Amino acid sequence: MLERDIKEVLVTAEEIKEATKRLGAQLTKDYAGKEVVVVGILRGAALFMADIIREMDVYLEIDFMDVSSYGEAIVSSGEVKILKDLDTPAEGRHFLIVEDIIDTGRTLRYIVDLLKYRKAASVKVCTLLDKPERRLVKDLIPDYVGIQVPNEFVVGYGLDYKQKYRNLPYVGVLKPEIYQETTE
Ligand code: XMP
Ligand code: MG
Repeated sequence: MLERDIKEVLVTAEEIKEATKRLGAQLTKDYAGKEVVVVGILRGAALFMADIIREMDVYLEIDFMDVSSYGEAIVSSGEVKILKDLDTPAEGRHFLIVEDIIDTGRTLRYIVDLLKYRKAASVKVCTLLDKPERRLVKDLIPDYVGIQVPNEFVVGYGLDYKQKYRNLPYVGVLKPEIYQETTE
């Protein structure tokens, strides 16, 4: 049913699985002997977060942050506001931020700087998808990237359009008429 609304699949479920396994193996090596707090950025990163931590064979804790950037619009406002902060004190701890997609880089710039300000021992970024063409914060270079995607608005595997389509097992582009219908 949801599939009817998809114009094109950009990243298949299989490709997501492969990328997650590859990143998980690298993270397992890189965090060997350390304890890490894995922070999922709500709500888009929820699915990737659940999958990536199961590929990490290290002692870890999880926490979540909710920040607003897009609201219901598909263009970034550039504003970042904390809607839910971490419950974990940051000082002296290693943080891995898990994101669904990096677009302009503003959201992550804000979160990384906040954790550094709170004296985290280290802050690294792991994103499933990266849209490098859209980057405005040039020095925001994610440490772990699953798959690069072109400059198109994508949905699925956590990513939404007006809060829908997060449950698609793959990442795709919506048919143009879906945007037209719902913006009227
Ligand atoms: P910035 O611009 O701060 O934005 O890097 C990152 C946040 O923007 C959302 N985003 C998208 N959400 N499809 C979506 O559903 C997209 O193509 C898309 N591009 C950016 C996303 O929530 C991310 O956390
Ligand atoms: Mg998000």
